[in-house]
Amino acid sequence: MASSAPILLTPGPLTTSERTRAAMLTDWGSWDGSFNGLTASLCDKLVAIANGSGSHACVPLQGSGTFAVEAAVGTFVPRTGKMLVLVNGAYGKRLAKICEMLGRDHSVYETPEDVPTTPEAVDRLLAEDRAVTHVGLIHCETSTGILNPLPEIATVVARHGRRLIIDAMSSFGALPIDARAVPFEALIAASGKCLEGVPGMGFVLAREEALLAAEGNIASLALDLRDQHLYMQRTGQWRFTPPTHVVAALHEALLQYEDEGGLPARHARYARNCETLIAGMRRLGLRSFLPPEIQAPIIVTFHAPRDGRYRFADFYQAVRAKGFILYPGKLTQVETFRVGCIGAVEPTDMERAVEAVAETFRELRIETL
Ligand SMILES: Cc1ncc(COP(=O)(O)O)c(C=O)c1O
Repeated sequence: MASSAPILLTPGPLTTSERTRAAMLTDWGSWDGSFNGLTASLCDKLVAIANGSGSHACVPLQGSGTFAVEAAVGTFVPRTGKMLVLVNGAYGKRLAKICEMLGRDHSVYETPEDVPTTPEAVDRLLAEDRAVTHVGLIHCETSTGILNPLPEIATVVARHGRRLIIDAMSSFGALPIDARAVPFEALIAASGKCLEGVPGMGFVLAREEALLAAEGNIASLALDLRDQHLYMQRTGQWRFTPPTHVVAALHEALLQYEDEGGLPARHARYARNCETLIAGMRRLGLRSFLPPEIQAPIIVTFHAPRDGRYRFADFYQAVRAKGFILYPGKLTQVETFRVGCIGAVEPTDMERAVEAVAETFRELRIETL
């Protein structure tokens, strides 16, 4: 599936297929009808993944995922609005920081990094604070791999008549989100995650009415999703230079996504990757940070060995020499490292990665048991 280059077991950029990379060998004219057709087809496919065809629009945006998150907050939260930000990791904190930078009033509800936000807590917080207009939730908090209960929280937010902004960056395409059952104002994701494209563009799914109603909210030209949407509707083109090769790669990746069997098949493969990885590491004496009930099959945080000889930098280099790129931990209190389960990788790749880790521990004489 992958090339002979190191396999990226990281949450994006990640390992892509040969076919996806080959799609970047063509140069596209940004004004050309064929490229406009590619963008339109891409957007239709992205909306369909969330069952939003006919009700939701897809607004693509140049840049990494954070650009799209910032664009969504600025576009959808009015200057007089207030966001309740649900935090249990680094990306939740980043969302709060975006509110601060954009001058949007906000409050933060934070739980420890191994504790999901509960719908009961959201219910209470919304009842207590009538000023909150929007709720911001990270679906899978990639800094640990924890899964927050999106459908239940979405129901509570809707019952209170507030609007939900979902950062589904590391879950979209692999974990089900049904726009017909999960009410949201905006859902944000990006090209280089579970859809297995390359990094370089984000996208936001939203209802047409919400986009139209967002006029005058954002004090940014480049990040104005409403303007991007209206311009694209009128002309079929992106407002500013599009990431043509990224669009082509993502489109090709989506054709493979459909061939694989869409979301259920992608979810099942990632779940098998995750199980294989956790079972293999357990055999080596390594414990995962999260209990299985709240572990998303996206990325796994492992406790580092307690052996004093362990240094992440040496461990990383030795595993890399064996063909696998791992990811540092993002926790402040405990020493951890992370391994991604997403990308064009199979359970056999995870087994080989576990073997590379075992060999590395032998080489570095690190005790894990
Ligand atoms: C949940 C989540 N939100 C936001 C981002 C930010 O994306 P980027 O680093 O592409 O700007 C990421 C990146 O991994 C993510 O996992």
